[in-house]
Amino acid sequence: MADLRVEVAGVSFQNPVIPASGAFGFGREYEKFYPLSELGGISVKGMTLNPKDGNPAPRIAETPMGMLNSVGLQNPGIDAFLEKELPELSKKGTRIIANVAGSTVEDCVEMIRRIEGTAVDMIELNISCPNVKQGGAAFGTSCESAAGITAAVRKATTKPLMVKLSPNVTSITDIAKAVEAEGADAVSLINTLLGMKIDINTRRPVLKNNVGGMSGPAVFPIAVRMVWQVANAVKIPVVGMGGISSGEDAIEMMMAGASAVQVGAAIFTDPYAPVKIIKGINDWLDTHGIASVSEIVGTVQPW
Ligand code: FUM
Repeated sequence: MADLRVEVAGVSFQNPVIPASGAFGFGREYEKFYPLSELGGISVKGMTLNPKDGNPAPRIAETPMGMLNSVGLQNPGIDAFLEKELPELSKKGTRIIANVAGSTVEDCVEMIRRIEGTAVDMIELNISCPNVKQGGAAFGTSCESAAGITAAVRKATTKPLMVKLSPNVTSITDIAKAVEAEGADAVSLINTLLGMKIDINTRRPVLKNNVGGMSGPAVFPIAVRMVWQVANAVKIPVVGMGGISSGEDAIEMMMAGASAVQVGAAIFTDPYAPVKIIKGINDWLDTHGIASVSEIVGTVQPW
């Protein structure tokens, strides 16, 4: 058994596999399948200051090797999370990452203030949701706005701060450097790629929101490329995600420079995906005689 422990921004994880925000709710449904203590951590569903119903249905569409979603940040609001979900979740023996997405800087800062002093281990500031009109990706698509919201949130919390980046930008490395300069302790990437699917019989978009965020195995090479570029551009740790569905994918993402990985779309086809990926990582390390998973981080040797 290899040593699967990793550290991201001063937080120790017993293994590098974290269900991604939006793919795992608050973990309750998955406890039927395996103890949550087997996971490195959980990034909970993206939360806003007030409850949100999300976008009208249909808001999920399948694509070859992937899916589109336009959920629109449906969530019960930060107070419901802190009062109803966190007390139980914090007993599960895994790290808790609070994913927060505000429509204004003030909303984000207020949420962060409410999280301070709770059992949350890390904040994931979501500046990259492509499915809401206000906030969301609007903060993550320019260096100035990404830096501005990071600076404001940084001042409001002593907790480790990870910023989740959008791939729907000209230069993700510039955005990563901008949030690093304002005090981000880590970055996570990639959020979904903006896509569209049309029903050719009705000539209508399949999603009521017309467009949605693409995830799943089809985006994996794009995510690996962006993680590699960002890991080489910043000094803070990178958490990689985007289409990871096997232990080998996780190893590849870590070789590109990710210190840990998040798993999203794979969970919708197989709820056991995170635990299978943990086993797959261990098997690969054992087969190759590597004692610790952290030894492979950033070890790709480019031509
Ligand atoms: O629509 C959604 O709730 C997606 C959120 C995200 O991509 O961050």
